[in-house]
Amino acid sequence: MNRRRDETVTQIDGAFPEGFLWGAATSAHQTEGENTNSNWWHLETAPNSPFAERSGAAVDSYRRYPEDMRLLADAGLDTYRFSIEWARIEPTQGEFDTRELEHYRSMIDTAIGLGLTPVVTLHHFTTPMWFAQRGGWASPDAVDRFAAYVTQASTILADVPWICTINEPNMIALLTGMPERVAATEEQDATLDSRPIAALALPTPSDDVTRVLTEAHRRAVDILRAATDAKVGWTVSAQGFEAEPGAESVFTAVKWAWEDRYLEVSRDDDFVGVQSYTTRKIGLDGPVAYTSAEEQTMTGWPFRPDAVGLAVRNAWSVTGGTPVLVTENGIATADDRQRIAYVEGALHSLAAAIADGIDVRGYLHWSALDNYEWGEWGPTFGLIAVDRETFERTPRPSLAWLGARAHAARAASGRPVLESVEAS
Ligand code: BGC
Repeated sequence: MNRRRDETVTQIDGAFPEGFLWGAATSAHQTEGENTNSNWWHLETAPNSPFAERSGAAVDSYRRYPEDMRLLADAGLDTYRFSIEWARIEPTQGEFDTRELEHYRSMIDTAIGLGLTPVVTLHHFTTPMWFAQRGGWASPDAVDRFAAYVTQASTILADVPWICTINEPNMIALLTGMPERVAATEEQDATLDSRPIAALALPTPSDDVTRVLTEAHRRAVDILRAATDAKVGWTVSAQGFEAEPGAESVFTAVKWAWEDRYLEVSRDDDFVGVQSYTTRKIGLDGPVAYTSAEEQTMTGWPFRPDAVGLAVRNAWSVTGGTPVLVTENGIATADDRQRIAYVEGALHSLAAAIADGIDVRGYLHWSALDNYEWGEWGPTFGLIAVDRETFERTPRPSLAWLGARAHAARAASGRPVLESVEAS
């Protein structure tokens, strides 16, 4: 590392407040394996599946989670975000599996035992198959069904400090109906795109599903506030929209429909989870497709480390000051030096936002491990590589690099930050 790199890293290390959370994130379906009672399992294995690759045994984290967590803790991280799986806890409607609740309680205990603050997500895209067959979020009693699950889940969450109710309601609302359509018919649906989620040209999120998800979230917040001491919020996919000249009013409308109306819901919450990867231009016709020159990462997304800074600033301004937790930020790349450069840029943009007064509580990298990217295995987001035959874990240099930032920031916290440290 040259002197200039050393200097910019030192600026990062001194920029984060005491108690800032440094961690990494995963979700159950993407890592556990054999999530056979879920709608996504059905989606992947149906004869008319739109996806080429299946989750299968995933990276076997259902069994290997102690090793996953230990690698994060050994590297110096202090937080782990993971999800608990509704389809395992309630495989049949109304029948809750206490062994699965105990399993997730063991995960929480393991994290705490290793010095990792658990951040638990209750719903990360997957639902039980029976819920999808009843129409998913479009079914009339969807909120009651979700609330019944959350009530059971809350029995193991009393001492969990951070709970995310629903992961990316805006993504759910724009993908809505896809798993249900596949579940309902064995025929190929011509409206289904055969590419992974990351590559889809996405429609505007559905208003109806947005209303239901908002209600489901609010019910979950009430249940969790009564049963736990946790800070409760949901996590919003930040698009990093940027207006092209002359397209400002389209930009405002698109940003509201895709993102801001979900952030408005977070005004009453304890925190808002911000999930950011890249940016996208808005032209007169709406979101503009990336050019091949912009597609610099394995998911075809532009390399924009500054996106997370834009995202937390937008969340802060729309919510009117709800504390922000970066619950996902990362890059799919085969080049770990590019990953480190991305995270370094992201931390600079966060440091600048914090220096400007935004209350950012932590940075959780997506992802702890390479995992199943909703339809394909190609994009590698992990700080830890996984051999999919042997499940052997190999930490990448980026894990040690992020751990060193966490360590140095903890050592330096409390030091006043006098000026913005935006990357120069
Ligand atoms: C999701 C993750 C996903 C990641 C990268 C987020 O939208 O929460 O499950 O793997 O983006 O595509």
